Amino acid sequence: MKPLLRRGRYRVVLAAAASSLALAGAALVVPTLAQAASTLGAAAAQSGRYFGTAIAANRLNDSTYSTIAAREFNMITAENEMKPDATQPQRGQFNFNSGDQIYNWATQRGLKVRGHTLAWHAQQPGWMQSLSGSTLRQAMIDHINGVMAHYKGKLAAWDVVNEAFNEDGSRRNSNLQGTGNDWIEVAFRTARAADPSTKLCYNDYNIENWSYGKTQGVYRMIQDFKSRGVPIDCVGLQTHFTGGSSLPSNFQTTLSSFAALGVDVALTEVDVTNASTSQYQGLTQACLNVPRCIGITVWGVRDSDSWRSNENPLLFDGGGNKKAAYTSVLNALNAAGPGPTTSPTTSPTATPTTSPTTPPPAGGANRIVGSQSGRCIDVPNSSQTNGTRVQLYDCHGNTNQQWTYTASRQLTVYGGSRCLDAAGSGNSAAIQIYACNGQTNQQWNVNSNGTVTGVQSGRCLDVWGTGNGQQVQLYDCNGQANQQFRLVPIS
Ligand code: XIL
Repeated sequence: MKPLLRRGRYRVVLAAAASSLALAGAALVVPTLAQAASTLGAAAAQSGRYFGTAIAANRLNDSTYSTIAAREFNMITAENEMKPDATQPQRGQFNFNSGDQIYNWATQRGLKVRGHTLAWHAQQPGWMQSLSGSTLRQAMIDHINGVMAHYKGKLAAWDVVNEAFNEDGSRRNSNLQGTGNDWIEVAFRTARAADPSTKLCYNDYNIENWSYGKTQGVYRMIQDFKSRGVPIDCVGLQTHFTGGSSLPSNFQTTLSSFAALGVDVALTEVDVTNASTSQYQGLTQACLNVPRCIGITVWGVRDSDSWRSNENPLLFDGGGNKKAAYTSVLNALNAAGPGPTTSPTTSPTATPTTSPTTPPPAGGANRIVGSQSGRCIDVPNSSQTNGTRVQLYDCHGNTNQQWTYTASRQLTVYGGSRCLDAAGSGNSAAIQIYACNGQTNQQWNVNSNGTVTGVQSGRCLDVWGTGNGQQVQLYDCNGQANQQFRLVPIS
């Protein structure tokens, strides 16, 4: 994984874009970045982060629940539906019905999805619980391969291994541990091979306090994995400040210490007894203070949805009203605004996005090929309808994949009748086709570093997966492979 550089470079790009626009005297709407956002997801996106929730499939037809979830959050975790007992109830028979229900609900609303979880001592199907030794080892590998194949190219991250440590920092004595101490690295290597496009996380609870034995045990494992090249991209800190635990004063030290090993960190299952505003505010601020803390997920929508509902630990009450803790989180996210709160410690691997290359000669048709996926930017069903979102699809060179870069920096399709168009300028704004109108949300810089940036937004064309049907969006440029595109002339 290349280091994340979102926020540092973003400022430079935007400043450059804004000043060149001012020079050109164009009448434009430059996004007011200092404006407070009114939802958790939008507030987090200002600093390139996400704000997520766990979703239960059987609650989705509760309209209060789904309305809040779709409005406030931009990352979704299946609370139980992608766990081993749900996805492989009988050996060799996979079932993705409820997992897909959540995946489809989320992606139809433009929300991203984290996968949870592949290898865990709990919520195993009965047949797996009774296995041991090499049979169980093989079953774990088969399970990872089966589930990851189904979701290949679709998920932002997977919690590959969940809760493998004891409180004292030793390994938990589970049936998986009984297959040999290398089971965790085998799981990660299997996962990388199964889907190279998704981030691979280790996830656990009670690893928030830097001086705690379990935190140190997990830290040493991540350090060992990074030193030996075992593929791992992220650590998920569940952050259940429930059942007696609370926010430690050294939480930020824990986050930055993990991050310094070269992994992203995320708070993956947050809930806090009685939704203490100071603890919610503090855990949010700790994440905001660490550049590689990429997002926060709360473990449910309303208190009544929580697995610990008697502790009222979430941001919405049973009636769907925002609690005081909601406001403390929203305010903290808004106060962080667009800039980094600390400078990224990693050095850039991609050059700034402000210098366009000499574009391909105007008039020729090109494919726009995603470097990570090898797939082409495609207008679904050859639609000519204004507002149709473009996607990745297998390259075939038909007219719905033929793009012409014009002298005025438009990317036109269908012989010039439609333009590649950004339906907004913020993170996650849809990329669509629209009748060409000469405005800056239809102008693109094709950059020498392989990115394509919107003239209005300064943001990069971005996809969150590699599969057919993956939608294209705007996102803060981060130097990663999912933002690399090549214009390849169609001869
Ligand atoms: C919990 C769910 O919220 C419950 O609905 C289920 O009965 C048990 O699992 N750590 C994890 C989560 O990684 O998967 C757990 O979710 C909570 C603790």
